[in-house]
Amino acid sequence: MNVQFDFAGRHVMVFGGTTGINLGIAQGFARSGAKLSVASRKQDNVDAAVASLGAGAFGAVADVRDEASVAAALAAAEARHGPIDVLVSGAAGNFLAEVNSMSSNAFKVVLDIDLLGSFHVVRKAWPHLRKPGASVIFISAPQAVVPMAWQAHVGAAKAGVDQLARVLALEWGPAGVRVNVISPGPIAGTEGMRRLAPQGPDGDALVRAMVPLGRMGTPDDIANLAQFLSCDAAAYMSGTVIPCDGGAQNMLTPMITAAAQQAQTH
Ligand code: HXC
Ligand code: NAP
Repeated sequence: MNVQFDFAGRHVMVFGGTTGINLGIAQGFARSGAKLSVASRKQDNVDAAVASLGAGAFGAVADVRDEASVAAALAAAEARHGPIDVLVSGAAGNFLAEVNSMSSNAFKVVLDIDLLGSFHVVRKAWPHLRKPGASVIFISAPQAVVPMAWQAHVGAAKAGVDQLARVLALEWGPAGVRVNVISPGPIAGTEGMRRLAPQGPDGDALVRAMVPLGRMGTPDDIANLAQFLSCDAAAYMSGTVIPCDGGAQNMLTPMITAAAQQAQTH
């Protein structure tokens, strides 16, 4: 369901905003009148996302692990659309692997994308943010607080993202910049669910069974919360980590362990 917000004339930049949940966030802001910039690694994804975001959208190829490419994307975005009113940091990598079978590089690659990449995004974005007034949103995951087997790398990375956000809310608050985190639950049709959850009707039923509201989420659910957090109604919200998951956070540990075991045997 789309909730109507008004971001006419505002500049929204989404890192990792070319597919899945993050593209849904970008599309939600675009429907509300914002000027969009998106960035990710793959030119094809960037081109398709820009085409879906309407006239004037800007896309940049950037790898969040490479701070120079992040800085270049931010500078080009500001040159196109002006200072950034809403910054979303959502690039991430994930795969199922138990600690005993994970190489140092496998652990590191997820830390590099999710956590160090988020640091690069905010560190390089500071000069480009509208001050006062900007809203910064990180996309985290339940693994940050709920221990999940085969997800040590993601749990460590996203816990770091949550705490980076809390510290930034302290440091940037005096400049009038708000910083919050959205922690999505299971979102249907996404790469994250394709990689983590058992597939097919039985898999969907298993996932739905862990959600008190009885359904998987949609990218629009996350887009609506991102817009709420960036609108004037949320003017006193900063330093928060908000699950958007149909109430699933209290049921996740047993379910994810079962789902991961099932996925591993397929
Ligand atoms: C064990 C693995 C592995 C696997 C990769 N590696 N896949 N180890 N099991 N399934 C290891 C590799 O062997 C290598 O270690 C190291 O990880 C780096 O792999 P590369 O392929 O060289 O990395 P790269 O090309 O940079 O790709 C990064 C990636 C890839 C994370 C591995 O999957 C990617 O680009 N993902 C982006 C899209 C994505 O993951 N979306 C889902 C987000 S969902 P060695 O030792 O061999 O060098 C999400 C949370 C969802 O984040 C939460 C749901 C509740
Ligand atoms: P997705 O479609 O794979 O989205 C990841 C995005 O990040 C892609 O646009 C990808 O594009 C980009 N990306 C990956 N590595 C990058 C890098 N090094 N530099 C720049 N961009 C990079 O996955 P998703 O499932 O929608 O997940 C989106 C976000 O939601 C992630 O932060 C994830 O942790 C979080 N989340 C998802 C779920 C879920 O149910 N799916 C649940 C909780 C949290 P390129 O390949 O072009 O780089």
